[in-house]
Amino acid sequence: MKTLNLHNSQIHFFLPDRLESEGSVLVVSDSQVAPLYLKQFLSQIHAPQVFSYILPSGEESKNPKELFSLLEYALACKLDRKSLMIALGGGVVSDIVGLASGLYMRGIDFYSIPTTLLAQVDASVGGKCGINSPQGKNLIGIFHQPSKVFISPLFLSTLPPREFNAGLAEVIKMAICFDSSLFSSLSSPQWVKQNIEEVIYKSISLKAHIVEQDERESNLRASLNYGHTFGHIIEQEGDYKKYLHGEAVSMGMVMANALATSYNGFSQNKEVIELLQTYHLPTHYHINHLSSFFDALFLDKKTQNRKIKFILPKAIGSYEFAYPQEEEIMEVLRDFV
Ligand code: GLY
Repeated sequence: MKTLNLHNSQIHFFLPDRLESEGSVLVVSDSQVAPLYLKQFLSQIHAPQVFSYILPSGEESKNPKELFSLLEYALACKLDRKSLMIALGGGVVSDIVGLASGLYMRGIDFYSIPTTLLAQVDASVGGKCGINSPQGKNLIGIFHQPSKVFISPLFLSTLPPREFNAGLAEVIKMAICFDSSLFSSLSSPQWVKQNIEEVIYKSISLKAHIVEQDERESNLRASLNYGHTFGHIIEQEGDYKKYLHGEAVSMGMVMANALATSYNGFSQNKEVIELLQTYHLPTHYHINHLSSFFDALFLDKKTQNRKIKFILPKAIGSYEFAYPQEEEIMEVLRDFV
């Protein structure tokens, strides 16, 4: 059975039949996942006390109110510093539980059991966790590594196809920046279905290699944000309801590619669009208010001293960090109005 070690986090590619904990355990799930998996999962935990908490499903739950309700529940359960929180769900659950466990009594352990493809390949690995605010996505958060992550493709059997495809957008992101042979393999949905464990393992290994070198995103880790600079604004403009995260990233990558075409002559946007469309991912975002879309770029976490940092592909399998002039960015955005 495969395991990857990443800082103080162990990423296991199986789901154990039995989980033991010295301290009490609080399992957090959401209203979509809990009916499918929570009862069975709770019966597998052996701990002095086991509690559970269910969040409303969806990105809208990543807000201060839900975070504080969860923290208050943890206090009511009298969790202590030996206690453990477990996130059983998708990226939203792992983001809130990561943040809540990092804040509770200045930090307790948490495990992540991602049940969506997106959470398996991205959100549950690497320790980024946070909530959204009216100003933007994930602007309030911390780095807090789960001590264990358990990844099982079995969960994917109940995942709606739209969510599966949105998760693949993050795999496509990794392939464009780092791995041209993975990009070629992804062109066959049949191959992807038959080799999903390998796809997940490959994508996480690529991510782990980056996070290992730059956990706190002083530079290199920003490469994992390809497509997200625009994608986060798209998600926010859709009130986190209209598009799934991966769908917004899909459109964000196409916008970043248009900028790359102008900035460094990137010539493979057509291939990227074809691959995204293979998985029914949206590839064109219509900007309603150009100036507010543009202004939102200055709240991106990578922007410093009004210099917006982009991750732009140079060719499939390689990327660069770029700081295009404001006028060049505007010029590209005008094509999306
Ligand atoms: N999802 C980007 C990162 O973990 O850095």
